[in-house]
Amino acid sequence: MSSLNKTSIPSEQHSLLAPQPSAEERKRARWLSAELERHNYLYHTLDAPEISDEQYDALFRELTDLEERWPGLRSPHSPTLRVGGGLLDGLAKKAHRRRMYGLDNVFSDEDWRDFVERMRRAWDAELNGPLPLEFWCDPKLDGLALEIIYEHGVLREALTRGDGETGEVVTEAVRTIRTVPLRLRGEGPFPSRLEVRGEVVMFKKDFAALNEQQQALGRKVFANPRNAAAGTLRQLDISITESRPLRFLAYSLGEAAWAPAEPCPSQHELMERLTAYGFLTPPDGRLCAGPDEVEAYAAWVREHRQDFPMEIDGAVAKQDNLEAQEALGFTARAPRFAVAFKFPAMQAETLLTGIDIQVGRTGVLTPVAVLEPVPVGGVMVSRATLHNEDEIRARDVRVGDTVMVQRAGDVIPEVVGPVLAKRPPEAVEFVFPHTCPACGETVHREPGEAAWRCDNLSCPAVRLRAISHFVSKAGLDIQGVGQKWIAQLVNSGRVQSPADLFTLKAEELLGFERMGEVLAQKFVDALDEARHTATLPRLISALGIRHVGEQTARLLAGQFRDLDELGRADGESLQALPDVGPEVAASIRNFFESPANRAQLARFRELGLWPQSPLVPFAPSGGAENGVEAAQDGPLRGKNVLFTGSLSLPRGRAQRLAEAAGAVLAGSVNKKLDYLVVGDKPGGKLDKAQALGVAVLDEAGFRALLAASGITLDASE
Ligand code: IVH
Repeated sequence: MSSLNKTSIPSEQHSLLAPQPSAEERKRARWLSAELERHNYLYHTLDAPEISDEQYDALFRELTDLEERWPGLRSPHSPTLRVGGGLLDGLAKKAHRRRMYGLDNVFSDEDWRDFVERMRRAWDAELNGPLPLEFWCDPKLDGLALEIIYEHGVLREALTRGDGETGEVVTEAVRTIRTVPLRLRGEGPFPSRLEVRGEVVMFKKDFAALNEQQQALGRKVFANPRNAAAGTLRQLDISITESRPLRFLAYSLGEAAWAPAEPCPSQHELMERLTAYGFLTPPDGRLCAGPDEVEAYAAWVREHRQDFPMEIDGAVAKQDNLEAQEALGFTARAPRFAVAFKFPAMQAETLLTGIDIQVGRTGVLTPVAVLEPVPVGGVMVSRATLHNEDEIRARDVRVGDTVMVQRAGDVIPEVVGPVLAKRPPEAVEFVFPHTCPACGETVHREPGEAAWRCDNLSCPAVRLRAISHFVSKAGLDIQGVGQKWIAQLVNSGRVQSPADLFTLKAEELLGFERMGEVLAQKFVDALDEARHTATLPRLISALGIRHVGEQTARLLAGQFRDLDELGRADGESLQALPDVGPEVAASIRNFFESPANRAQLARFRELGLWPQSPLVPFAPSGGAENGVEAAQDGPLRGKNVLFTGSLSLPRGRAQRLAEAAGAVLAGSVNKKLDYLVVGDKPGGKLDKAQALGVAVLDEAGFRALLAASGITLDASE
């Protein structure tokens, strides 16, 4: 059996002789308990706190003091019990009253239609009438299934799914999860017994922060949020559970003793009741009117998979009618009334055959895993980043290991960690090289930095990357100037810097592989055109200044007339810009202080590659960019603007129009932001802007300011 050593729930010891708390104190304790729970709910479940952390702490301390003075006042559902300090001596097991089934999977629309067909066949229409075909659909959360048992609205016990028949008792750990109501919200009366089922997950951002912290403390990093959630929930040291941000999202019931007058007719109403009771439910759930809508929903979830705050691995479709659910029942494995659309796994195991060291354009050495090719989420993966030396060490990844590879978001695939059970005995720890694999020079690692860096300005690998970046989409976006040719030009020594590119003659290129006269001419023409048409934001981005990406480049181009003016800006004026902090400002300063970079810029100017900002007042050219004539003055000039949600015109177009009106595009909501332009489904930026008191514009308001800036839109827009 499990027992709590430290924070055990006190048995009520009433004695008529012992001193008793006053009626006042009893009332205060009850009020504090309810009030703290209300603030827990506001903060953790609704994300909308009403009081400051300090105010919360003060109430909390007051209740703790009262309960210490009068242990009899501490109820089993007191919020003070959420703070675990106890140590469990092992997890007890307990049978579920109703088995917790898994779900069958479908992998295609065809599989889904077969499933609906099986449902039809299992349905007794004579007895039950026509089969209802409305489905409640929600994302399939990739966490840990959990059952929480409430009696008359009070949390009594929580069990993991276990093998479906028997689970582990994790009541004390579950109490610490702030999104779990200790008592159901609302007036009641509540069902005498309600088994709420759902998933315990860790949000992706919380997982990343936890792993960062684990690594900093030299502790084990978790392979994925599910492992982290599982490890956390089954922790015997409750203070650890408490310190980690788990969330519970409810999606179904086990046994439910609804009052006879209030049976719950449908899954969608159940979701409403669960929400009213204070639970989080899976985001973006929807009632679908038939099998076709379910297909469309599953496709939508799949497409937006990466945008969910937690890991999801599919979508679940459930018969909405709960009586029909009951009538359809279960096969040996799974319900006949619900099924999971499974998405391809975003993780896979494969063999790590080697570790390459790549030298980036800023000289950073990045270890890259060379893998036996494996499909991950529908894409073949043969290389994956290992980030840096510390990550390799923290994950203890060795050549010869079988490793877990994952793709997350749009980022490049990464190695999560080794499968230790499959490690060959001869695998040895990886030793990070201390010389540059491209030029052989000694590499350096600054204190406090994760990366080893090659500081050799003429390192061929650094040059190659810098020039490739210069012509890439993130730079001047020069079509037809491919990586392979750049590599040949750099290796031959003919091109040592971006400026050299513009001095190339077609004849010089003819010797290169697969390069004929026509291609050579195209190559030179493309460069020539870029030289004349390059815009200031593109050129700034092309320079490859550390921490200055396309977004920051646009911002800078909106503030400085040309590279000269940008190069003269001091740290202070740079930091006055939105989204420019000390690190970015220092990096810009470093770039312009380097004599080699200055020489490079002087050559750009000689070559006529010297764009002027069309957005800065009194710019000599004042010309048109992106097909929009720049406004000389107007209400958006110099204003920091950010867009969120979807507008009726494409985001990129809206941004260009704003820039043409003299606005500066910001990257995030902060105090320096002047306007947040809000479209449909705005998300968290709107809340943040409102909290900071930033002015919010709807699309009509934005259009009005454009008009006042003299910017006219096409008739169709
Ligand atoms: S409904 C009778 N909805 O996936 C089962 N389950 O692989 C009704 N799961 O055991 C379950 N997200 O633990 C449902 N939105 C969701 C879910 C979900 C995850 C879990 C559930 C189930 C497992 C099957």
